[in-house]
Amino acid sequence: MNDPSMVASAMAVGVIGTGHVGLITCLSFASVGHRVTGFDVDASKTETLRQGRMPFHEPGGQAMLEVATASGRLAFTDDIAEAVAGADVVFICVGTPIGASGAANLLAVEQAAREIARAATGPLVVAEKSTVPPGTASQLGRTLGEERPDLVGQLDLLSNPEFLREGRGIEDALHPDRIVVGGSSPRGFAVMRRLYQPFLDAGSPLIETDITSAELAKHASNAFLALKISYANALARVCEASGADIEAVTRILGGDSRIGPDFLGAGLGFGGYCFPKDLAAFAHLSERLGYPFPLLSEVARINDEAVQVAVAMIRDAVSNLEGKRIALLGLSFKPDTDDIRFSPSLTLARALIAEGASVAGYDPVAGAAAKEEIPELQVVDDPYDAATDAACVVIGTAWPEFRALDLARLRELMAFPNLVDGRNFLDSESAEKAGFNYRAMGRPQLRSDPQTSGV
Ligand code: UDX
Repeated sequence: MNDPSMVASAMAVGVIGTGHVGLITCLSFASVGHRVTGFDVDASKTETLRQGRMPFHEPGGQAMLEVATASGRLAFTDDIAEAVAGADVVFICVGTPIGASGAANLLAVEQAAREIARAATGPLVVAEKSTVPPGTASQLGRTLGEERPDLVGQLDLLSNPEFLREGRGIEDALHPDRIVVGGSSPRGFAVMRRLYQPFLDAGSPLIETDITSAELAKHASNAFLALKISYANALARVCEASGADIEAVTRILGGDSRIGPDFLGAGLGFGGYCFPKDLAAFAHLSERLGYPFPLLSEVARINDEAVQVAVAMIRDAVSNLEGKRIALLGLSFKPDTDDIRFSPSLTLARALIAEGASVAGYDPVAGAAAKEEIPELQVVDDPYDAATDAACVVIGTAWPEFRALDLARLRELMAFPNLVDGRNFLDSESAEKAGFNYRAMGRPQLRSDPQTSGV
């Protein structure tokens, strides 16, 4: 696939919300030559961006931000009208947190739509990128009409769901597997085709559909990926009981082109700001529509169970958690991000602390955020410090740098040589060779030596 190159006809783009989705949207459109203005209600975030700094860790983001702002194609404002006035397209990229009832809280989305309508100066495409339940667009359409009866027929609402992954967001935004545009207005579709032309030229396919299907497809995709992970984790439980190896089983499963190898990684399960929240919102929505979709709650249950299995494995390795020091390597919800929201590793830390263990955590970038979230967690700057006097080292997040750990040195520092790999990430034979009592999720132990376990 080619890289999207500069577009001939630059368009004016407004982006409301500069979180992971919004900011990466800003960067990717500016990189192909559009003029982009980003707005966020959080003035401190806007200030950070104006100073040319990324407000979160995203590989490649800082360099792209510098190039885009230096070129004059990307600016940030704390006045929403500046992002909207004169724009061809405005994207709604604000958060949709889970509300008390389990439904997505759409307050910020509605507020954004209202303010966009107020600031509109003429014909405008308003595109939802935030993950919203199907039916949201018709509500937002009414909001736009209420605010600007004078612009009826000129404000086109579309759904343009974003599928990017944190940590790989730039690559995903520049080379999406598919670009989805849901709507009903020929003018809106034409504007979006012009906007995405460089990405289409670079090989990404475009799927145009109705707005409700586009909204539903985002929920359906996230839930299916979560389902694959939970399927692998449930299989891991059967592997543990039968002596099979989940890594071999998923390699065989994933080799079937109808199944595919991705998102079959067993371990502590999924976290992050999307899967847990979107799964709950999708379940709530289905229930409200009259189809309870029990498969979704089972996916969530299997995911919760994965952390409990890891706790049991650690407890078993050290005999009793009370008073033991556990080194937890990796605190973010997945590698290459400093995002700790719904991090399985932190759920594990809380459970270990609740059983009386002291947990020393290390993460290449998420340490400070984790400490703020769990004050009882000791956060150290080095994996070897975490391991010193520990009864067990646990891999909580599969950061690539953990593959380069000096396992022999790690083992020497520890009180007992137990290693629980919550991400099935390290090479089991190397760990065994370094003298570890190595346990992984859904994998048989190569060697079980009671002498090496904590007592
Ligand atoms: C996800 C979707 O992938 C993306 O399309 C959507 O737009 C937003 O939600 P993200 O939350 O950034 O993206 O992370 P992702 O890479 O999908 O991982 C989600 C979680 O699943 C992580 O906690 C990860 O560790 C876990 N995971 C992933 C597994 O446990 N096993 C796997 O095989 C893959």
